[in-house]
Amino acid sequence: MDFSLELELAVEAARPMLATGRVADYIPALGAADPNAFGLALATVDGEVYGAGDWQTPFSIQSISKLFALALTLATGDAIWHRVGREPSGTPFNSLVQLESEHGIPRNPFINAGAIVVTDRLLSLTGNAGAAIREFLRDESGNPHLDTDHLVAASEAEHGHRNAALTHFIASYGNLENPVESVLQHYYEHCAIAASCRDLALAGLFLARHGVRADGSRLLSASDAKRVNAVLLTCGTYDAAGDFAYRVGLPGKSGVGGGILAVVPGRGTLCAWGPALDRAGNSVGSVAALEAFTTATGWSVF
Ligand code: DON
Repeated sequence: MDFSLELELAVEAARPMLATGRVADYIPALGAADPNAFGLALATVDGEVYGAGDWQTPFSIQSISKLFALALTLATGDAIWHRVGREPSGTPFNSLVQLESEHGIPRNPFINAGAIVVTDRLLSLTGNAGAAIREFLRDESGNPHLDTDHLVAASEAEHGHRNAALTHFIASYGNLENPVESVLQHYYEHCAIAASCRDLALAGLFLARHGVRADGSRLLSASDAKRVNAVLLTCGTYDAAGDFAYRVGLPGKSGVGGGILAVVPGRGTLCAWGPALDRAGNSVGSVAALEAFTTATGWSVF
């Protein structure tokens, strides 16, 4: 089935929204992104990929990397859930407030605190969390050039006082296995990966295929794939997860680079990108395009 027309219409629906958002500049290297760029890609479970607009332009994937960190950790059979919860936080993605009353156990794996704990575990399990995520994305997308943007990673590290505070705080509760500096380095390395809508739509397909990778091997059990999708739906877009579920009706993960990767279990994935963000840190254009596409096609879990 060819969805070219629906993709074009969804991109057109997003364009008027772009002026209503702001490009993230708390990581200075991201501040130079073009607020008028916009792309949308769709990959089907059989590996076909379609796109509209700037769907082949690489961008900083940022927090979208957190879903791959979680999946690769669960793929080892690791029981990470005693170190990180799976409830929506209702607070901004970089908030510190819940960590103290909740004894250094982050609410979920997609807020910064939770992703830092998952990165710590993946670092222990693989010896190189940044490389593990990069390699996985290269394999699934078939793009050998996909890489970390080291200027972005360095910019994050230089201005990352909040993430450093979160990581030290987690360590003070005994919920970190590796040195703070190593965990932060790997966290920034995977957040600063540059990939396109095309690459990410293909890389996320294992979640639409109930855990099965592009080469037919199994990454996750069907139960774990279901669980990751469930946590994406409830926590993947932070304190806007309720609004995202209401408007788009799909599990999804956003990043402050402006990308959102959404999963349609059994059917495929969608990845939208536009750098202008709303106040919760989600791309205004990406949410609008996904809403338009799922409304027009009925591609939703509901
Ligand atoms: O740690 C940070 O703040 C960024 N590397 C990632 C934050 C992010 O993408 C939040 N997403 N919407």
